[in-house]
Amino acid sequence: MASVAAINLRRRRLNRHLRELSREVRLATEQLVQPVFVVDGLRAREPVNGLNSVWRDTPETLLKQIEADLESGITKFLLFCVPSEKHERDFNHDFAATQIQAIKARFGSDLWLAVDVCLCSHTTHGHCGVLNDTQDYVRNDATVEQLVIAANQFSAAGADCVAPSDMMDGRVAAIRSALDSHGGERTAIMSYAAKFHSSYYGPFRDAANSAPADLEALGDRSSYQLDPARPADALACAKRDADEGADILMVKPGQPYLDVLANLSREVPHTWAVYQVSGEQAAIDVLDEQGLADGKRAQLEAWTGFARAGAQVIISYAARRRLLA
Ligand code: PBG
Ligand code: ZN
Repeated sequence: MASVAAINLRRRRLNRHLRELSREVRLATEQLVQPVFVVDGLRAREPVNGLNSVWRDTPETLLKQIEADLESGITKFLLFCVPSEKHERDFNHDFAATQIQAIKARFGSDLWLAVDVCLCSHTTHGHCGVLNDTQDYVRNDATVEQLVIAANQFSAAGADCVAPSDMMDGRVAAIRSALDSHGGERTAIMSYAAKFHSSYYGPFRDAANSAPADLEALGDRSSYQLDPARPADALACAKRDADEGADILMVKPGQPYLDVLANLSREVPHTWAVYQVSGEQAAIDVLDEQGLADGKRAQLEAWTGFARAGAQVIISYAARRRLLA
C-alpha cells in the first residue's frame, strides 16, 4: 500500500540544521548601511530620541564611532550633516564637505561613504527645497540647481555616493551630468526613488533638525513625497530614476512598503535598497524595551522581509548592533 507521509513540508522545519540549509534568503553584514548624523556646533554627542545606538555626533565623536563600527564589520555609512545656520537660499555645504574630507582622510577606502543630499536641514522652513514667494510651492528646478551644487561639493570632498532625498523631478539626471563634467564620474548616485509621505520619520526629523514648519499652504511634504496609495507613481519614479542614471534605487520606508519593494525590484531590475526609517526602528526598540518582543529577533525578521522582497542593500539604524553571526 502506498505510504502517505505523515509529514512532508514540515520535515525541513523540524531542526535548526535543516532550517538553515533550506533558507532562500540570507543576510550578511556586508549589505548593511549605517545612517550617521553629525551636527555643527554641538558640544557633546547626544542620543537620538527614540532610537538605541544612534547619536547626533560631533565631528570628533563621529570619527570615533565610525572607527568602532569598522571594527565590528560595518563598512558602509549614510551621512547626514546638520548645519548650524538656516537659510532660504545661498545654502552653505562647507560643514558637510569638511566632515566628508575628514572621514575619507582617516579611513579611505576601508569605508563606503554615501552622503544625503537635501535641503530640509538647511532651510528656515524645513522643506526639502526652495519655496516660491507665496510659500505654497517647492520650486522644482530652483531646488535641483541647489542639490547639484551640494552633490558636486560632496563628490569633490570624497563622497563615494550621493543620495538625493528631496523628491524633485529631474534631479538624478542633473546630478549625474554635473558630476560627470566635474570629475565626479566615479561617484555613485543612490536615489530615493520611491520615498513615501510617511508618519514614520519623526525621530529622524528631531535628529536632523529638519521638521517642516506648519506653513499655512505647505504644512507637510505631501506635495513632493509619494502618496502611500499610489504604487504606480512609485514604479514610474523608479523607472525614471533608473533611466536618468541612478546606480542604486531605494524604497523608503521599509516595512509598510514591502509590497512596493517586491513589485519594483521585479519590474525594474537594478540594485535595490530599502531604508528602514527612524520610526520603524523606534517601534522595534520600544517593543524590546517594554518586554513585548525580542528586539533582536524582530530586527532580523524585518531585515529578512527586506531581502525576501528583493532588496540587496539594507539601510538600518541597527546595522551596528552585531546582530548577524
Ligand atoms: C528628508 C529625509 C527624510 C528622512 C531622511 N531624509 C524624511 C523626511 O523628513 O520627510 C527620513 C529618515 C528616517 O526617518 O530615518 N530629506
Ligand atoms: Zn529633505
